[in-house]
Amino acid sequence: MPKTRWGILAPGHIARGFVAGLKVIEDAELYAVASRSHEKAQEFTQEFGFQKAYGSYDELANDPDVDVIYVATPHHLHFENTMMCLQNGKAVLCEKPITINSKQLEILVKTARDNKVFLMEAVWTRFLPGIGKILQMIGEGHIGNLKMLNADFGFKAPYNPESRLFNPVYGGGSLLDIGIYPVFLSLLLLGYPKEIKAVAVKAPTGVDESVSISLGYESGALASLHCTFATFTTTDANIYGDQGKIQLRQQWFRPAAVLVSRHNEKQEEYEFPALANGYEYEAMEVMQCLNKGLTESAILGLDFSLQLMRLLDAIRKECNIVYPDYD
Ligand SMILES: NC(=O)c1ccc[n+]([C@@H]2O[C@H](COP(=O)([O-])OP(=O)(O)OC[C@H]3O[C@@H](n4cnc5c(N)ncnc54)[C@H](OP(=O)(O)O)[C@@H]3O)[C@@H](O)[C@H]2O)c1
Repeated sequence: MPKTRWGILAPGHIARGFVAGLKVIEDAELYAVASRSHEKAQEFTQEFGFQKAYGSYDELANDPDVDVIYVATPHHLHFENTMMCLQNGKAVLCEKPITINSKQLEILVKTARDNKVFLMEAVWTRFLPGIGKILQMIGEGHIGNLKMLNADFGFKAPYNPESRLFNPVYGGGSLLDIGIYPVFLSLLLLGYPKEIKAVAVKAPTGVDESVSISLGYESGALASLHCTFATFTTTDANIYGDQGKIQLRQQWFRPAAVLVSRHNEKQEEYEFPALANGYEYEAMEVMQCLNKGLTESAILGLDFSLQLMRLLDAIRKECNIVYPDYD
C-alpha cells in the first residue's frame, strides 16, 4: 500500500487528538503542518514528527506532495479553508460541522464533485466499531422495528462571549458543536424526519446554550435529542425497537460498550476498545477511499452530510438561531 501524506491545517485542540489517532496507522505519513504562526507549526511538527512546517494555510494547499488535508479550524472557517484546498486539487477531511449551513455545503459539494476531488466530513463516530455493530444488529432485526431514540450530549462550558463556543461569528452554540452528534445518530438510524420541533435556551450572545429536539418519522418512530453547554449530561444513547433495546454506554458518541437486550432475554454486552483514541478509524476510511480512487466515502458520503446540515438548519429555524454573517 502506498503511504498517504497527511497535511494538518490548523494545529489546535482537536488536531492534537486526530494526529494521536493517525500515528497508529502504518501507512499514514505525518507530512506537513500549517498554522497562521510558523513558530507554532514548527513546534507541532517537532512534537509529533511531521516533516514540514508552514506559516500559512495556502502554502500547505499548494504543496504538490500533500495527498490529503485535515481541516481543523473553528466552524466558520471550514468553508473557505476547504474551498481553497479543493480548488488546489487536494483531498479534504474537514472537521464537523463541515459548514455553518447547507447553503455553504451545497457550494463545497458542487466544487468537490465538479473537480473530482475527495471530500468527507469528520464525523468520526460513524466509523467506530461499536456503531458498525449496532447497525449490523438493527439491520438483522435484533431489536425489531425502531420505535424510539433518546440521545444527548452535554458538558458545562464556562460562558465566554469571545470563545468559539459562544461567539456567533465563530458559528458558536451547542447544536453545531455537540448537538450534531445526536442529530447525526437520528439521521443514521431513522433517516430524515417528517416532523421537527425544537426549543432552545439562548446565551446572551444569541447562540444556543441548550437545545431540546423532538423528531417524528413516517415509520411511526420518534427521537428525543438534547445538547447543552450548561451542565454535564450522561451523554448516552438508547435505541428502542418493538422487540428490544440497544444502549450505547457513556459517552455514546465513542461507545466503549454496547448493551443489547431483546424483551425477556438476557442482556448481551459487547466491548469496543479503540486502537488509539477512535479518530484513527475515520482516517483509515479516508486512506482506503484515496487508494481506491474514490472521491466520496460510501459510508459517510456528501449526500448524508447535506442531509445532516439541512436538518441542523431546520432545527435552528425552529428555535430562531441565526448566524447573521452566514445565513
Ligand atoms: N471530532 C471531534 O471530536 C472534535 C472535537 C473538538 C472540536 N472539533 C471540531 O474541530 C474544530 C476546531 O475545534 P478546536 O476545539 O480544535 O478549536 P481551537 O483549538 O480553538 O482552534 C483550532 C485552530 O484553528 C486555528 N484558527 C484559525 N483562525 C482562527 C480564529 N479566528 N480563531 C481561533 N482559531 C483559529 C488556530 O490554529 P493556528 O493559529 O495554528 O492556525 C487554532 O489553533 C471545530 O469545528 C470543532 O467542531 C471536533
